[in-house]
Amino acid sequence: MSKPLPELKIKNFTSRFPVIQAGMGVRVGIGKLAGAVINAGGMGVIASVGLGNYAHADGRSYVEESNHQLINELRAARSISGGKGPLGINVMVALTNYESLVRTAVQEGIEFIISGAGLPLRLPAYVDEKTALIPIVSSGRALHLIMKTWKRKYNKRPDAVLIEGPLCGGHLGFSFEQLKHPERCSIDILFKEVQDVLGEEGKDIPVIEAEGVNTREDIERCITMGFAGVQIGTRFICVDESGMEPSGQEMYLKATRDDVVIIQSPVGLPARVLKSPLIERIQRGEREKFNCPYRCLVTCDKKTVPYCIAEALLSARAGDKEHGLFMTGANVEPIKSVISVAEFFETLK
Ligand SMILES: Cc1cc2nc3c(=O)[nH]c(=O)nc-3n(C[C@H](O)[C@H](O)[C@H](O)COP(=O)(O)O)c2cc1C
Repeated sequence: MSKPLPELKIKNFTSRFPVIQAGMGVRVGIGKLAGAVINAGGMGVIASVGLGNYAHADGRSYVEESNHQLINELRAARSISGGKGPLGINVMVALTNYESLVRTAVQEGIEFIISGAGLPLRLPAYVDEKTALIPIVSSGRALHLIMKTWKRKYNKRPDAVLIEGPLCGGHLGFSFEQLKHPERCSIDILFKEVQDVLGEEGKDIPVIEAEGVNTREDIERCITMGFAGVQIGTRFICVDESGMEPSGQEMYLKATRDDVVIIQSPVGLPARVLKSPLIERIQRGEREKFNCPYRCLVTCDKKTVPYCIAEALLSARAGDKEHGLFMTGANVEPIKSVISVAEFFETLK
């Protein structure tokens, strides 16, 4: 019999299993997924990007619609979990409505905020004392900058630190050059860098691993390395409760490692995705037809990008293989079936 997995304690809440469900934007990580994860003993996360893509619904502006949808998803998660937590949001620094999403989620009484895709230097200004702050970093240098700024300006320190390694899904905090040699910025190297920055004073701050976790064995390996927990993305795309339609999930179930590529995303960062007709067209230098009714990203220039990332992710989520952009972690190949969240957590007992 293997040893029970430890609980994950962050600030003043605890989850039974050391598992955070990754924020997966544009309606993959929504209320029904987060609620099911909380029920099963993990930490549930609503990804706040792309919730308001049905702009101007009922006369609401993009910002108002985003907040409205965020509230809906947070309440849906709480209703599924019987009001329990820990429930949080993932919010990308690159979003034009960053502050507004954070303030809305705090008003809804979330327990934690995970924030990356840029340095969340101003995050403490928008929250109350209760909310746990978890920055995403992909280097010790990024954490150093965040901690220095938070201490000086807000007298705060992170409640946990999440390290996204070079094999994780979605946007990557590395240059293309670094990604050619992932072994030089591997998760164990990054873990040491982060521990050095945290030092003696920050020894009690939990450090979370994010890349490539699909099984109990993967979690055990991370715990043995010294991580307090893991964040899981790609495995949770292929569960009954994910926001991704079954025809989109098929793309992941049949993917091999050769189907995984890294592209330059309109966000301005490299991103790991599955090969698809859209990627082939982009790689041939073609441009998709789109208009940009709302400016969702600070870093995107609609005149130069070859497609709208929000539309492409919405198409993926709807299972449109022709137009979808399917973000993935590098370790997608072993995922061969759609299971329920409860079944996944059953394997951790
Ligand atoms: C479909 C998809 C969407 C994602 N969306 C976001 C996002 O909105 N914000 C974010 O910070 N990270 C996002 N990520 C990255 C994940 O939060 C996570 O850190 C990563 O996927 C972990 O690696 P894994 O997928 O190998 O488990 C996304 C990843 C995937 C696969």
